[in-house]
Amino acid sequence: MARAETKDEKYLVVDHLIKWFGSDRAVDDVSFSIEKGKFLTLLGPSGCGKTTTLMSIAGLHTIDSGEIRVGDVIYTSKEKKIFLAPEKRDIGMVFQSYAIWPHMTVAQNVAYPLEIRKIERVEIDERVDKVLALVGLTEMSDKLATQLSGGQQQRASLARAIVSNPLLLLFDEPLSNLDLKLREQMRVELKRIQNEVGITSIYVTHDQSEALVMSDEIIVMSKGQIEQRDIPLSVYSKPANGYVSQFIGVANLIEGTLAKKNKSGTGVADLNKTIKGLTCDCVLSSELESGDDVLVSIRPENISVSKKNTGGKGIKGKVDLAIFLGNCVDCRISSDGFEWKVLSHPRENLQQGDSVFLHLDPKHTLAVTP
Ligand SMILES: Nc1ncnc2c1ncn2[C@@H]1O[C@H](COP(=O)(O)OP(=O)(O)OP(=O)(O)O)[C@@H](O)[C@H]1O
Ligand SMILES: [Mg+2]
Repeated sequence: MARAETKDEKYLVVDHLIKWFGSDRAVDDVSFSIEKGKFLTLLGPSGCGKTTTLMSIAGLHTIDSGEIRVGDVIYTSKEKKIFLAPEKRDIGMVFQSYAIWPHMTVAQNVAYPLEIRKIERVEIDERVDKVLALVGLTEMSDKLATQLSGGQQQRASLARAIVSNPLLLLFDEPLSNLDLKLREQMRVELKRIQNEVGITSIYVTHDQSEALVMSDEIIVMSKGQIEQRDIPLSVYSKPANGYVSQFIGVANLIEGTLAKKNKSGTGVADLNKTIKGLTCDCVLSSELESGDDVLVSIRPENISVSKKNTGGKGIKGKVDLAIFLGNCVDCRISSDGFEWKVLSHPRENLQQGDSVFLHLDPKHTLAVTP
């Protein structure tokens, strides 16, 4: 087994990875690294290359260009003609399908990776007991895998993946077969366990809320390429471009041009082509220049709405729809042919048909590359 002695800062390195399937470039020059013990999520729509990236790390795909290494150990390098067999990579994997053996008990399933490593029985039993306790399956250890619920089977898969204390844990949409409530529970549970065992993890999902809840960092992918890598809060509040802004959460996206660029990373966007006469102060997310086309992105919770035009600078609108959600009211407000999505406080008591004024906060009004 290839054990890597490594400095903490760059544990796994994926360097200019390219993978073709026929004429389809499934992974198109992807580079990233991850620190030891961190939880990194690859997030993106179906077909963007998440699984292919993961499989390339696991050695279940050969690659067409680039290098993958953990510490000083090169797993794959096209240029150096190195390919370490998957079983030598010391990686634990948890997939969408539970992939535990139906003819074995839970304890036997979990013990299996240790048996093939020819570890002594006493130690195997000890380690199996420990991880089963960690994932909350102690009571189930003698049950056949088929007697478990979906959530329990996924816990058993996780126990089997971590029992040998691998260098890396790879997850490919492990929660997507579970119903919504269980999925939400398991997110937190999985994160707790990963924290406790401290194994460096890469998690693949197309579910943005899963990514936001669980990750230390998120890589947003599209069409085989990385669009943005950042901490969850920044991916949400400072999307690098229109694609990320649309993919993560809900945003009002307004096309315009950058009328003025200040020195401080702020500017003025002219949105006249979408909403007549509207300009707004904004923060610039990237290297935009005056005159550039921009997409202004404003989250619904960052627009304030009131029936009075406080300060005289509000955008006039009419409430088309107001849905009470308990802690907020989800509104659609039309203004010069544009429909704003706004989350208002219930105390504003907005009703369909009300005339209102919208106030944008320049700090939360972000101009991005379209
Ligand atoms: N074994 C394969 N043979 C041929 N093409 C493949 C193969 N695996 C993936 N592809 C193609 O590579 C691209 C990336 O696929 P990949 O499975 O990595 O996407 P994904 O991001 O994991 O999507 P999903 O969210 O649907 O699982 C897709 O266009 C897909 O059709
Ligand atoms: Mg996939």
